Amino acid sequence: MAKKIGILTSGGDAPGMNAAVRAVTRSALTKGIEVIGIQRGYVGLLNKEFVEMNARTVSGIIQRGGTCLYTARCPEFRNMEGVMKGKAVCDELGLEGIVVIGGDGSFRGAGDLSNAGIPCIGLPGTIDNDIQCTEYTIGYDTAMNTAMEMIDKLRDTTQSHDRCSVVEVMGRKAGYIAVNVGIAVGAEAVITLEREYDLDAIAAKMVKVKNSKNGKHHFIIVVAEGVGQTENIAKSLQEMTGIESRVTILGHVQRGGSPTLRDRVLATEMGYHAVELLEQGIGNRIVGLKDGKVYDIDLQEGLAMKKPFLDHRYDVFYDTAY
Ligand code: ADP
Ligand code: F6P
Repeated sequence: MAKKIGILTSGGDAPGMNAAVRAVTRSALTKGIEVIGIQRGYVGLLNKEFVEMNARTVSGIIQRGGTCLYTARCPEFRNMEGVMKGKAVCDELGLEGIVVIGGDGSFRGAGDLSNAGIPCIGLPGTIDNDIQCTEYTIGYDTAMNTAMEMIDKLRDTTQSHDRCSVVEVMGRKAGYIAVNVGIAVGAEAVITLEREYDLDAIAAKMVKVKNSKNGKHHFIIVVAEGVGQTENIAKSLQEMTGIESRVTILGHVQRGGSPTLRDRVLATEMGYHAVELLEQGIGNRIVGLKDGKVYDIDLQEGLAMKKPFLDHRYDVFYDTAY
């Protein structure tokens, strides 16, 4: 039975991380487990940047974006020397487990530390929803809602000027945000890494729609960041259609802001589940969502899984986007 655990946030931040920190802290305290906050991810573990967590240190954070524990990337933790140094710090402090909130990179570190003898539980915290073994990651819903609100504003000016706005949404390796946001804002095209795209066809569709009876004169094209061609896409579409185009890169604004209800609730349930595992001395697991329910899976097995893309949703989008 664990009596003292640590918690850290690592990699890119995501709205809802604070809700997870609060849930882990409060559910551990309820079980009589002491909680140590580790600041700046694995960097703080190696540098011993600790804060004691109590019921009040997590008061008033459930509605706040960012992470109260700060986050960082720690190249040193990618090799065994760094991991063993981390294990020594845990032993020194008497930590019997750590909850790691982050993405797949952070989980690999958690797996290494688990193998070194410190049970770690990974909680999926990334706006990209690109963790293989879970249907949902903390921050995804808030980021999509932020992008949707921003693009709704963008449509106003795009429409006034009869322009085409090519909007880049986040997603380094994944187009989940792009597809959902594309549907939600009524975009005319969505371009992602997962599906082939044909700029000639998109341009032809724009011209056809523009020239149709009661034609539409403005267009929103959503591009996932990972495609890496946003400027070129805008330039090509302008050349091919003659419609004046502008690029908007939404960027890190999508990572901030108050988490949605969905993010707060799932972060809370996932945090609670992580403590239940650590309480029993179980580590090397990822907590995720499967068929709408919180579950856990072996860390390495979870990372090796392949996540399906939103193929059906993508097709639904294209049949309703004109
Ligand atoms: P994310 O967790 O959001 O995917 P990163 O990929 O930047 O973000 O990883 C965050 C941190 O996790 C890294 O700075 C490093 O400390 C640790 N990490 C990443 N990849 C590995 C790995 N292969 N092995 C061990 N630790 C890793
Ligand atoms: O993984 C989340 C994410 O926001 C990606 O969508 C984006 O490419 C990346 O992080 C940006 O990371 P950084 O904070 O290093 O700019």
